[in-house]
Formats: sequence, structure tokens, C-alpha cells
Amino acid sequence: MGENIIEKALLGASVFKNEETLHPAFIPPELPNRENQLIRLSHTFKALLNKDGAYAVNVAVVGKPGTGKTVSIRYFGQGLEKAAAKRDIKVRFEYYDCFMFRTKSAILRDLLTERFKVTSRGFSDEEITTMINRRLSRENIRLVLCLDEAYLLGQDLLSIIHASEVAKHGHAFISTLIACRIVDWQNTLSFPLSGRLHDRIDMPAYNQDELFKIFKFRSELAFHKGVVTDEIINMVANIAASTQNARHGIEVLYLAGKAADRLNVRPITPDLIRRAKQEVYSELRSDVLYGLRDQEILVLAALTRELKAEKSSSTTIASVYERYQLICEEFGVKKQALPTFRKTIDALVSLGIIGKVVEGIGTGQRGRRARLTLMDIPVEVFDERVSEILQRRESMEGNFD
Ligand SMILES: Nc1ncnc2c1ncn2[C@@H]1O[C@H](COP(=O)(O)OP(=O)(O)OP(=O)(O)O)[C@@H](O)[C@H]1O
Ligand SMILES: [Mg+2]
Repeated sequence: MGENIIEKALLGASVFKNEETLHPAFIPPELPNRENQLIRLSHTFKALLNKDGAYAVNVAVVGKPGTGKTVSIRYFGQGLEKAAAKRDIKVRFEYYDCFMFRTKSAILRDLLTERFKVTSRGFSDEEITTMINRRLSRENIRLVLCLDEAYLLGQDLLSIIHASEVAKHGHAFISTLIACRIVDWQNTLSFPLSGRLHDRIDMPAYNQDELFKIFKFRSELAFHKGVVTDEIINMVANIAASTQNARHGIEVLYLAGKAADRLNVRPITPDLIRRAKQEVYSELRSDVLYGLRDQEILVLAALTRELKAEKSSSTTIASVYERYQLICEEFGVKKQALPTFRKTIDALVSLGIIGKVVEGIGTGQRGRRARLTLMDIPVEVFDERVSEILQRRESMEGNFD
């Protein structure tokens, strides 16, 4: 009987034709309503494709959350490489999410080791820069360094741009394509980058009609015919229009599809959409969570579980550390010692995922302890996501690093 249930669940027809197409990393074959921005990017990057007299460019893409910045630049990168290859011009588009690569050094090292397959061990950043430049120059490769959420690099971003400007005099070509949310742009990048950009492309927020078109297209890729009606898509467009965030709608569709499979409901009903809506927190970049290191995910899991257990919105580092140790045992992962654990917490604080508030206990400085909170995100939502990622990683890799 138990086996039958499992077999039915595993093999039973799914509403999804291709579930992966709703995953944050998926790049769709078309981007409705982003044609103008893609054309403008192409015009600016045309400079790279001149056989003689090519020059490198620095471009920024700026907009609110969920306006398609990430997906557009990755889509553009694929197209650019292909168009160049057709003309026998070597363009390399290398994408970095700065949530994962947080320093110039991390990016340079990855570029050399993982993307150009040369060992970088034992070399300084300067030496690595020289090695990359030599390689580009010798093989006549035009590199586009794509830096998503570039504000996280702080001063290092300027240093990267400066290195690419210096490189140009040595006839190597490093262009940069920067993506950034509008708030972070205004707070950290707009001033230091002014005068250094060839173009800045704004991604306007989507309105309801645009969202309808996008979700219609994405539904056709993800679901079997007849599973999602226009009425449902309209409903989802309406939900996402409230935040003007395309991710919002994509996640609602995904969760509604999962629930339809779980409950065996066909087609997707307004009720499933309403329920999915409750589970989605649109500002939470689920792709950020996917980019976190294993230890960071474990710390987050510990914090969310602790907050849930205490039914509180903040807790102490000591309690989180205790819970963290339990989780490590649960997953058979090596524990970090307290000082390292504190560093992991600090990293999550600087990414804006965890908040740290200092609360006075007693009067003196000594009694003041930091308490940890989750930034603006309901614990339940977070807990579910983090657990999902933990399970995914465990089943994919069998173990953690
Ligand atoms: N024009 C579009 N056509 C199809 N899908 C889109 C379009 N715009 C956005 N999406 C989808 O919406 C989701 C959010 O887009 P994306 O991640 O590119 O937003 P973003 O601007 O980078 O947001 P954030 O600032 O939060 O990083 C992704 O799943 C993406 O594939
Ligand atoms: Mg993005």
C-alpha cells in the first residue's frame, strides 16, 4: 500500500511539462517586453565586434527587483557570444553573481582557474590580472565581465574597472556589464561610476499587461496544455502587478503547480493560486539563497528554526549556535568553531539576509548583546526555502563541504 502511494506520486502525470523552466537559473528562449533593452545593449556592445578598432565598454543595467535584470544580461551574453563566433571574433562572456563571489580576488581566481583552466595558486591578484591580460591579448579574446549585484564588491568594483581600463592600453579587452537594483545603485554606485560608463540601461517595472504576456509565455514552457488557463494567468499577473516583480508571479505559478500535483487537482484553480500567493515573499531573492555557501545555509536553517521554536522575532547568537550544532549532526556536517561561526553570521549580515540588533541588558556596555533577526521575511517562508535547499544539496551531492 505504502509503495503504491509512492509509486503513484512518483510516476503519476504531473501538471508540469518542464518544471526546471521555472527555476531562477533558467534562461528562456525569448524575453517578452525586454526587446528594446536587449537592442540597446547590443548597440553598445557592437564596439567589441569591430574587427579593427574595437574598444571595450562599461555598461550598467539598473532597475527594481524582478524587472528582469539578471535574466536579460545572461540572455544577452549568450547572444553576444554566438554572434561574435559567427564572425570569427572571440568574445567570452563570464557571469558572476557577487553574492557568491564577493571580492575582486575571488572573481580573478575563479576566472583564471575555472574559466581559463590555469592554476592560480600562489599568485597575487596583480599577477593573476597580468596572466589574464596576457592570455586575452595573445588569443585575441574580448572578455565581458558580467557582475550581477556589483554593489556588493564595494571598492573592489572600482579596482576591477580600473584594471580593465589599464588593460586596454596593453590591447587586451575587458568590458564590464554591471547589474544592480536601483536602491543599491543610488546608494553606492551611481557616484563612483559616474563618468566611467558608456551606457546605463534602465529596466522599467512591468505593468499588468506586460506581466500577463510574460507569464503566458513562461506557462507554455513549464506546464502541459490546458493546465493553466488565461483566467489563471490574469490572476497571477494581477498579484505580481502589486509588487511589479516578475519573480513574484513565477514563484506563484511554480508553487501552485507543485500543490496541484500534490493534491491531484487539474487544472490549476484560483484557490491553488490564492494559497500559493500566501507562500511567496517577492523581495526574497530565492536565487540568493541558492548561491549561499553550505555553512551559510546551515546557519540560516539554525536561525529560522530557533526563531520558530522561541516564537520570537529575534534571538541570541548563543542559542543559534546550539541549534546549529544539532543541525550539523543531523546532516553529518563538520561544525564550525564559534569564532568561525560568528564570521559566517557577519557575512550573512553584510548580505542583508540576517539583521543584527543590539539590545541593552542591564546598564553597562558588557551587558549589551547582539540579537539576530531575519530581515523583513516571515520565518515560515524562510524555513521552507532553507529546508528545501538543504535537502536538494544533500541529495545532489550526498554530502556537504
Ligand atoms: N521579460 C521576461 N520574460 C520572461 N521572463 C522574465 C522576464 N523578466 C523577468 N523574467 C523572469 O522573472 C524572474 C525575475 O527576473 P530577474 O531575476 O531577471 O529579475 P532581477 O531584475 O534580476 O531581480 P533582482 O533585483 O531581485 O535580482 C526570473 O525568473 C526571470 O526569468
Ligand atoms: Mg537579479
